[in-house]
Amino acid sequence: MRVLGIETSCDETGVALYDTTRGLMDHIVYSQTALHAQYGGVVPELAARDHLRKTLPLLDTLLARAATTAGEIDGVAYTAGPGLIGALLVGAGIGRALAYAWGVPAVAVHHMEGHLLSPLLEDPAPAFPFVALLVSGGHTQLVAVRGVGDYTLLGETIDDAVGEAFDKTAKLLGLGYPGGAALARLAEQGRSGIYTFPRPMTREAGLDFSFSGLKTAARLAVQKAAGNAQAYADIARGFEEAVVDTLWIKCARALSATGYQRLVVAGGVSANSRLRARLSSLPDTTVFFPRLEFCGDNGAMIAYVGALRLSAGETAPLAIHAQARWDLSAVGK
Ligand code: KG4
Ligand code: ZN
Repeated sequence: MRVLGIETSCDETGVALYDTTRGLMDHIVYSQTALHAQYGGVVPELAARDHLRKTLPLLDTLLARAATTAGEIDGVAYTAGPGLIGALLVGAGIGRALAYAWGVPAVAVHHMEGHLLSPLLEDPAPAFPFVALLVSGGHTQLVAVRGVGDYTLLGETIDDAVGEAFDKTAKLLGLGYPGGAALARLAEQGRSGIYTFPRPMTREAGLDFSFSGLKTAARLAVQKAAGNAQAYADIARGFEEAVVDTLWIKCARALSATGYQRLVVAGGVSANSRLRARLSSLPDTTVFFPRLEFCGDNGAMIAYVGALRLSAGETAPLAIHAQARWDLSAVGK
């Protein structure tokens, strides 16, 4: 079965072809970062309009590159949520309409399930069950994963997502938007231990996170540093170490609570090298990450989940449906 995947939930247009025999055939990601940079964040209406401009031309390029004709596509998967509703509706509308025109089934995919299962595109792929740490611009979640569609939320952020905290702190340091990767680069020039920021919610029991206090602590430090370049780098380093430490502690706790020995880390922040290195040191645990190009939003993860779900007989009704909010635990098997 050959499945076309379409991702348009935020500011990346992603398209991909996944074949259940051949594996991932090709994928393309177009990032709107430059479009939103001048506003310091994603502008939903501009995002939706740009997806509308880019999706069909990207699909043409994808099919040409993969030497695939429309007649060879057996199903279409699109991200139906969670995300920006206008942006989602573009991908859902195009995906649903193409499937109808081609006379093949369509399937609505949960964006976070895409991230969560993205390490299954790698070799070796993690076996079930595993704990998943999902860290992106909009989500910070620990999930117990027993199989496809069998998810229990163990903990999540009560305020900012990790990626959001990275982006807001990066902005304070004058690094532009989205600043997670730039902050990580600046942290390389910073010294460890000059700034020690809080490890939020690690003293009390539980698996929830909070990152807004950490961001405030970083803001106060930035104000005091008053533009000193070395101090800015030291703050970036201290901030990154506090985040990574906090995530390490909560992952260790989730692994011991579930008794699982495998950890999957996915979402945009899983590209962070310090996080990857530190989590790889968790005792008695095998840690799985997607390759760097699949850490951020992409169509490959959507085509892959779509292929799993279509193979299991799931299909979306004819109506075009997308939802901004969608609880991951509510996704069926
Ligand atoms: O998964 P993603 O591409 O989009 C969402 O679904 O949110 O995640 C984007 C987030 C942004 O906040 C970005 O700053 C962050 O991932 N990010 C990083 C790194 N690369 C991207 N954060 C820390 N270190 C990085 N290397
Ligand atoms: Zn994402």
